[in-house]
Amino acid sequence: MPGPCNVVVLLSGHGSNLQALLDSTMAPGSPARVCAVVSNRADAHGLVRAHAHGLPTCVLDHAHYAGRDAFDAALMDSIDRFTPDLVVLAGFMRILTPAFVRHYQGRLLNIHPSLLPRHKGLHTHQRALQAGDTEHGCTVHFVTEELDGGPLVVQAVVTVESGDTPHTLAQRVHAQEHRVYPLAVRWFAEGRLMLAASGRVYLDGQPMAASGHVIRQ
Ligand code: GAR
Repeated sequence: MPGPCNVVVLLSGHGSNLQALLDSTMAPGSPARVCAVVSNRADAHGLVRAHAHGLPTCVLDHAHYAGRDAFDAALMDSIDRFTPDLVVLAGFMRILTPAFVRHYQGRLLNIHPSLLPRHKGLHTHQRALQAGDTEHGCTVHFVTEELDGGPLVVQAVVTVESGDTPHTLAQRVHAQEHRVYPLAVRWFAEGRLMLAASGRVYLDGQPMAASGHVIRQ
């Protein structure tokens, strides 16, 4: 990449992952810079964080569109105005259409609060506890048409402690999210991370394991 890697962040809520990305990309010498934040919710706290950093924001309320196709078409238009090299889903709570996913193939990352492929979808912390999992965590992955199903880049593992509640577990997983998302974005921005046409993920020219890079405490 000739200049810094332009990152557009999509979010729906609190924006703590956006904050972690801002903290990391604003450090001197960062190969990435967040150039805009897009939300489907006008009340998302992540927008406040973006404004505090003087970043352009854009709100598209999905309720104002005839359906998923129309919303995602408008979303792509809004994102592409910022000419991103990378689009980062940071708590963007929408199911994306195949057309959207294909448009950003290989430059669309998501973070999910579980050790994928376990616990796709919602309420992951509660489900990990109910399942009696001894380990839980979070995963950064490339986005494909399968919900929470794209090839894995990096996972952080946390040990489930006796006495954990969904809340305590969520707090520890969240702290790990704030480590691994900036790491994956930096790898991408440095040109070290890529998704091949085969669906395989490469780091520094080497195929990654199916689990991605795994970080244990
Ligand atoms: C994060 O825990 C992220 O993993 C999750 O939303 C939260 C957003 O937190 N994403 C998903 O569940 C997507 N399937 P944040 O707004 O504080 O960054």
